[in-house]
Amino acid sequence: MFDGMMDLWIKSFEEEFGGVCTIKRDRESLEHAASDYTEDLHFQPQIVVEPTQTSDVSRIMRWANERGIPVTPAGALTGLSGGALPVNGGIALSTRKMNRILMVDEINHQVRVQPGVIVQELQEHVQSAGLFYAVDPASRGTCTIGGNIAENSGGPRAVKYGVTKDWVLNLEVVLADGSVIKTGANTLKNSTGYNLTSLVVGSEGTLAIVTEATLKLLPWPSHNALMLVPFASAERACTAVAEIFKSGSQPSALEFMERSAIELAQDFTGDDSLKLLPDTAAHLLIEVDAFRFDDLMPQIERILPVIAECGGDDPLFADDEASKSKLWRLRRAVGEAVKAKSTYKEEDTVVPRGALPQLLQSVKRIGGDFGFESVCYGHAGDGNLHVNILKQEMPDARWEEELPLAVRAIFEEVIALGGTLSGEHGIGLVQKPYMDLAFSERALQLQREIKNVFDPNNTLNPGKIFPEA
Ligand code: LAC
Ligand code: ZN
Repeated sequence: MFDGMMDLWIKSFEEEFGGVCTIKRDRESLEHAASDYTEDLHFQPQIVVEPTQTSDVSRIMRWANERGIPVTPAGALTGLSGGALPVNGGIALSTRKMNRILMVDEINHQVRVQPGVIVQELQEHVQSAGLFYAVDPASRGTCTIGGNIAENSGGPRAVKYGVTKDWVLNLEVVLADGSVIKTGANTLKNSTGYNLTSLVVGSEGTLAIVTEATLKLLPWPSHNALMLVPFASAERACTAVAEIFKSGSQPSALEFMERSAIELAQDFTGDDSLKLLPDTAAHLLIEVDAFRFDDLMPQIERILPVIAECGGDDPLFADDEASKSKLWRLRRAVGEAVKAKSTYKEEDTVVPRGALPQLLQSVKRIGGDFGFESVCYGHAGDGNLHVNILKQEMPDARWEEELPLAVRAIFEEVIALGGTLSGEHGIGLVQKPYMDLAFSERALQLQREIKNVFDPNNTLNPGKIFPEA
């Protein structure tokens, strides 16, 4: 677009919406909208708009769709695949001012929220009514429900409670042409028509903009126990994961961290109070939860012998809330700690959990072949391994040349093991080149056609998910 033309549409947008929404064009706001947590990506929009209600989102979409101006919805910009970045410029539509918890329905265990609500605020709000919103990403203190819906986020508790899609009953969304629709009903069961709710969840803002969500809640499991189990072999720690489930246990979190992951988190947080044993290669962080304190011990007793059989050392139990928070703080800090350490590339690999030892072995072998070190951690109970490939001292040219080959080799292995490209971070911008590994050409074409039905002018979040044709 010519600069002159660009100015024209911005001017006309300001005239149309200046009185109704906050519109920002200052350098700082444009810079803020240009990056998320993914690597060092940077794509500035021309304007940032912050609507407060559905009818404004609807009018903005209709306006932009008629003029072919891209609209990229964004929540807190904590994403890890570049999904909310305005890669084609245009309008960044921030949901941050649509941040109200509209209703907690204590009879039906539901909550109705706007998309800009911070996940931890929602959790704390419903907890005061004895209720539980289970989805719990590492970034829960900053990420929004809308972003979680867009990426179908998971987090540590997904292993027992499922991911975002399992908690969304119904959505109000604005389509590309500005229409406002409900995708389902506020019911626990629904066999009525196509499942539009599930289609929108995880569609990364490419099909519709979520303006309201009705979410399912549970009674709050008020008791839990947390243990950190050291292993001298990272692969044996991975082997223990499937064995724990085979014993009939259902932990509420089962996380894997290589030694380097904890060490980086310790450096990053400045908390080195946890003393690692010299021969520890990896840890499992295992949580069980229950409604009654007395129900915790039987669960732990089932897990302990499995750990011993799989070569785990004595677990360290977090015996009070402060120790639990400390361990979780370290775990949640790993992603940011890796980012602070080196230029890196993060893959959100996921395989059936029994294949985790082979996946880890392959990642290390491929790393050796290409000369990369990697830091691996993640939601082992779900078979979801975050593989962080570090650049460190590697020259830029070699990094740029070799990295895509190494990533492809890892993903080929993931697919061979029955897994797929992303467990919870989405495809967004950065995993697009590998979609041919996850889907046949026909299956990809079908998805492009779905996108086209929802958004024939390609107004909504263009440039995401699909490899360039
Ligand atoms: C985590 C984020 C990176 O699990 O998904 O820490
Ligand atoms: Zn994660």
